[in-house]
Amino acid sequence: MKKVLLSDLKNGMITAEDVISLDGQLVVPKGIALTENLIARIFSFDIFSIRVEDEILTTNLDIPAGSEMSYAQKVKSSPEFAVFQKDFKENVDRLEFAFNSLIEKNTEFDPTVILEETLKMINHRSSPTGIMDLMLNMQEYDDCTYAHSLNVAMICNIFAGWLHFSLKDRVLATACGLFHDIGKLKIPHEIISKPGKLTPAEFRIIKTHPLHSYKLISQFQLSDEIKNAALMHHERCDGSGYPYGFTFDKITRFAKLVAIADVYEAMTSNRSYREALCPFYVITHFENDGLLKYDPGFLLTFLENVVNTFLNQKVRLSNGIEGSIIYINPIALSKPTVQVGEKFIDLKLLDNVEITSII
Ligand SMILES: [Fe+2]
Ligand SMILES: [Fe+2]
Repeated sequence: MKKVLLSDLKNGMITAEDVISLDGQLVVPKGIALTENLIARIFSFDIFSIRVEDEILTTNLDIPAGSEMSYAQKVKSSPEFAVFQKDFKENVDRLEFAFNSLIEKNTEFDPTVILEETLKMINHRSSPTGIMDLMLNMQEYDDCTYAHSLNVAMICNIFAGWLHFSLKDRVLATACGLFHDIGKLKIPHEIISKPGKLTPAEFRIIKTHPLHSYKLISQFQLSDEIKNAALMHHERCDGSGYPYGFTFDKITRFAKLVAIADVYEAMTSNRSYREALCPFYVITHFENDGLLKYDPGFLLTFLENVVNTFLNQKVRLSNGIEGSIIYINPIALSKPTVQVGEKFIDLKLLDNVEITSII
């Protein structure tokens, strides 16, 4: 183990202990191979030096200049992704078994164990950026409940960190994400997985799932915040949500947090009726439609942080041109400036051009 000044940090160095900021925030956990993003993160916390292991990992998630591989291929071929994939599958299987046990009135459902395993999976990962990348490339599942619940739990955990929630509330937010849709198991499978448009009668049945979630969770000694987040995660601040049409003041802050994480996850994941949508399409959707529906402070924090995870990434535009995001415009988050060769394209100035995929 050795102490290294920040200016001497290199990709692949492995943290020998948790990197903690002056105000006690976990910046990078122990045992993580540093990437350019992580080094930038450490810099942003006014830390002067950190302890790293003597050996250096030669493979990491950063794209080497001139690499032929797309970013997605690079992420998928990384050792970190292989470990994540294994952890993810184990957690999805555990969740499936536990949720089904609960529905069948089996006693093997222990929410604390499921939550602890999920937290372990999150805490063993590197940065929030890393987890968001790994998740975005983990598109093997198109189910609406187990993988979705796990993803929403991870996003809620990261999002609560972006909102500077206390450690206790980050855990609570994770639990809110994990259990918010458990009531979907009470909805007939053919409705949940229907590829086409739902009939009004089917949609009425779908709308009962938050209440089912609330009732199922209420059997356990869990915080009211978790029950209320499940009950209210489809409520919208302008009263357009369900089941009660609650408005801003009546919706709890954890429900507001889950609502954003839930919609982002659902739109950026594969579904039986469509492919995953490009995150920039989802960000545009939130910018156009979100400020009245969601807590605006929460939403802006979420979008700013999500967009920043795509800085320096290669993207394809709707006109077929490919380039790298080099500047995020804070007043038009879905319209960054893209560098194409020697040229800079400010998407804010082009009405008809948008980012269609991350490549
Ligand atoms: Fe839901
Ligand atoms: Fe959901």
